[in-house]
Amino acid sequence: MADEVLELRHISKQYPGVLALNDVSVSFRTGEVHALIGENGAGKSTLIKVLSGAIIPDHGEIVFNGVVYPSMTPQLSKKLGIAVIYQEFNLFPSLSVAENVFSGNLMGNAVFIDRAQCEQRTAEIFQRMHIKINPKAMVKDLTVAYKQMVEIAKALSKNVRVLIMDEPTAPLTTNETDILLEIVATLKKQGVTVIFITHRLSEVFRIADRVTVMRDGCFIQVTDAKDITRDELIKAMVGRQISDTYPKRDCPVGKVALEVRNLRAAGVGDINFDVREGEILGFAGLVGAGRTEAMRALFGADQKQSGTVKLEGALVNIKNPRDAVKLGIGLIPEDRKQHGVVLGFPIRWNISLTILKFISKLSFLNKTKEKNITDDLVASLSIKTPHVMQLTRNLSGGNQQKVVLAKWLAANCKVLIFDEPTRGIDVGARYEIYKLMNELCARKKAVIMISSDMEELLGMSGRIIVLCEGRQAGELDRADFSQETVLQMASGQA
Ligand SMILES: Nc1ncnc2c1ncn2[C@@H]1O[C@H](COP(=O)(O)OP(=O)(O)OP(=O)(O)O)[C@@H](O)[C@H]1O
Ligand SMILES: [Mg+2]
Repeated sequence: MADEVLELRHISKQYPGVLALNDVSVSFRTGEVHALIGENGAGKSTLIKVLSGAIIPDHGEIVFNGVVYPSMTPQLSKKLGIAVIYQEFNLFPSLSVAENVFSGNLMGNAVFIDRAQCEQRTAEIFQRMHIKINPKAMVKDLTVAYKQMVEIAKALSKNVRVLIMDEPTAPLTTNETDILLEIVATLKKQGVTVIFITHRLSEVFRIADRVTVMRDGCFIQVTDAKDITRDELIKAMVGRQISDTYPKRDCPVGKVALEVRNLRAAGVGDINFDVREGEILGFAGLVGAGRTEAMRALFGADQKQSGTVKLEGALVNIKNPRDAVKLGIGLIPEDRKQHGVVLGFPIRWNISLTILKFISKLSFLNKTKEKNITDDLVASLSIKTPHVMQLTRNLSGGNQQKVVLAKWLAANCKVLIFDEPTRGIDVGARYEIYKLMNELCARKKAVIMISSDMEELLGMSGRIIVLCEGRQAGELDRADFSQETVLQMASGQA
C-alpha cells in the first residue's frame, strides 16, 4: 500500500530459552499514531530494537519506503529517519542537558556546534514541548521525569520520519503526559509516524489511530482504535478477561506503625504523618513535589535536615539505608536501574540479597527456604523467564521491575515504601502487585505508596497525603477522595 512507510515481514528472534519474536508481520502508515501493546515480555521492545538496528533478527525483512532490507543497522536506521526513545535511558549523566540533546547529531555528522548555539536550540525544543528545563543542567541531577523529557528532546532534535517511543509516559505525571500526547499529535500533523508503546490503555484511546496487540512473541491483531473497547484489548493482550482493576482490601487498620514528625530535607519542607498497620497511605503530587525526596530522607538514603521517626512507638535513629532495613523499613525505588537491582546478577540472587542479610543475621542459612521463597515470588508475580538463574539484564523492562518488587517482598519489612510500584507493569501483573500489597496489609504491615497514576492512588490508598513544592498541601480520607481535589491540592490551588 502506498501510504505504508515501514513494514516488518515475518520477523523472528530467538534468545536462549525464549522465542522473543515469532514470525511477526506488522506495518506502519505515514502520519499515523500506532500503539503497540502487550504484557511484560510480549516482545514489544525487541520488535523496536529490530527497527532501530540494535538487534539483528534471525528471520524476516524490513521494508522502508518500498526498499527491502534484510535487517537494520543503527546508522542506517538513523539515516532513514527512524528515531527511538528507549525504555531505559540512554543519556550521559555527567554531560549537560544540551550536550545530551545534540550528542547524537554532533557525533553523527562531526559538525561543530558551539555551546551557546546548542543551548539555544535545546531551549527552543523545550519551548515546543512546553516544559522548563535548564539546558545547562547536568543530566545526573535531573529526576526520572526530566531525564525522559531530555530523551524526547534528543529525538526531536533530529529530522524524524518515524518516532518510536517505548513507554514514554511511564514515568510522567498526568500533566506531563498531557504535554507529551500533545507533542505526539503535533508530530502526527507534520506527517511523522509515531509508534507508541504503553501499558496505559487510556492513552491508546486518546492518541492512537491503530493499535497492534502482541502476546508471547506473536502478533495477535491490529485494529483501528475507534473500533475496539478497552476490555477487548485486555482480553487480546492477556488471553483472558480481567474484570476489576483494584482488588478489595477488607483487613482492619490497626495501631500506628510509623510516625514521622517535622521531616525536612533538601526540597522537602515540614512533613508530618502516621501510617498504620494494615493501611496503604498514598502520596500524591506533581513531579518535583518532593515525594521521592521525603521518602529517601526518611529511609536514610539522603541527608535529613531535621525530623523524628518512631517505629511502633519507639524513637529510632536512621542514618543510612542499612539502619532502615535493619529496623524493618523497605524502600522500593522508582529508578530501578540505579537503585533497584544488580542487572548483572541472576534473578534469584537479586531476590535473595535482602533475605540473605536477614537469614545470615540469625546465623542461619536455609538454602531450601531461600530457594522456595524466590521461586514462589517469581511464580506469583509471573516474572517471565526461562529459569531463575537468568541474568536480570536479559529480562524485559517490566519483568526487571517485578524483580525489584520481589526482592523487597522477600525482605519481610514492617513498613514498605513503594515509589511508583507499577510503572511499566502490564495490567495483569499490576493486579497481582495490588493483591500483594493487600496481602502485606492483611499481615499487619504498613504500606506507603507514591504514585503519579491518579487512578491507582485513588483505587488503592486508604488515605492520601498531597505534597506541593515540598510542602504538605493536604490530607484526604477515602470518603473524600476525588481526582479534582487531589489535583487542586497538588498544584497549590486548594
Ligand atoms: N538479551 C536477551 N537475552 C535473553 N532474553 C531476552 C533478551 N532480551 C529480551 N529477552 C526476552 O525476550 C522476551 C521479550 O522481551 P521484550 O523486552 O521485547 O518484552 P516487552 O514486550 O518489551 O516487555 P515489557 O512490557 O516488560 O517492556 C522476554 O521474555 C525477555 O526476557
Ligand atoms: Mg519493553
